[in-house]
Amino acid sequence: MKKNRLAVSYEGTHCYDIVLEHQFEGLIEEIKHLELQNRKLCIVTDSNIAPLYAEELSNLLKSISNQVVIFELKAGEESKNLDVVRELYRFLIESNFDRKDGLIAFGGGVVGDLTGFVAATYLRGIRFIQVPTTLLAMSDSSIGGKTGVDFERYKNMVGAFYMPKLVYMNLSTLKSLDHRQYISGFGEVIKHGLIRDAEFYHWLIEQKEGILQKEPDLLEKMVRRNCEIKREIVQADPKEQGERAILNFGHTLGHAIEKQMNFTWLHGECVSVGMIASAYISMCRGKITSVQMKELIFLNQSYGLPVSLSDLISEEVFEAVQKDKKKDGSMIKFIILDKIGHAIIDTSVSKEEMEESIKFLLGEKTL
Ligand code: GLY
Repeated sequence: MKKNRLAVSYEGTHCYDIVLEHQFEGLIEEIKHLELQNRKLCIVTDSNIAPLYAEELSNLLKSISNQVVIFELKAGEESKNLDVVRELYRFLIESNFDRKDGLIAFGGGVVGDLTGFVAATYLRGIRFIQVPTTLLAMSDSSIGGKTGVDFERYKNMVGAFYMPKLVYMNLSTLKSLDHRQYISGFGEVIKHGLIRDAEFYHWLIEQKEGILQKEPDLLEKMVRRNCEIKREIVQADPKEQGERAILNFGHTLGHAIEKQMNFTWLHGECVSVGMIASAYISMCRGKITSVQMKELIFLNQSYGLPVSLSDLISEEVFEAVQKDKKKDGSMIKFIILDKIGHAIIDTSVSKEEMEESIKFLLGEKTL
């Protein structure tokens, strides 16, 4: 197996490859292997990515397909809804897409999740390829087959598990990524170290300067290790029947905060704050030390992520947590750290513990 390729399998059967490259050209051979050449291809992208790369990708794809169309949505979480899904269905119908044709999700998490959901449901399922362009999508959302959209103010409420045929990353797209979007991705990157790999977590501390400078070798090593961690977890539990839930570390509170902030904060920023709260609960339970807690806060801060809140009503956040779909009956599945590099699912986290952690975020409690 080539060093830039990771195979994802389920129950011993190969499902799809994750390919790490520094250009788009390699995508052509990959598409040929999938027998998608000479089929209609629809690039689904957003208003951030389209002006930068859509023409380049479209021209490249035209060398193997006689019909390449582009569907562009407005960048941002507000596009992740059923109205945009409907627009994309209409576009595909009007462009005569049939089940043998393919979709290419070309952008960040919103584009990937929405395109995957349309691929899962259009004509009961057509093939799709993830071409993530943000750090968040490369390290998390493009891998593992979670697709879906938000419904009213409920995040990811409608969706399906539906696997891409390929995840193809051109790491050079990270160079043009807006600074805030790039930083937001570290919410998921740091999460992967905390829940699965203490060595990687410490490597992120040591290599911070070069990573923030986007040094290509470091980026490749970092994204690759993320993909390996994510792959290991989703292979073992593709439909989140158990262990996959540890990937939701920082997300129970993170999603509630995202709503509380009316989606003005990016996903990774909310996950950062959610991770601090979950780590605080872990510390209060004696699982990690206050020194490790300080180290985590320092790490998130030095990557430019928020680690506190200035104005939040905990009752409302708690209600939002209750409504979060990660509830298991009446129990909320909370993810805490057993130690740095190892997370566990816990259903005993009380309302009081959550409130204490929110007080910590608000600066009403110190270490
Ligand atoms: N982003 C969490 C998961 O894929 O399960």
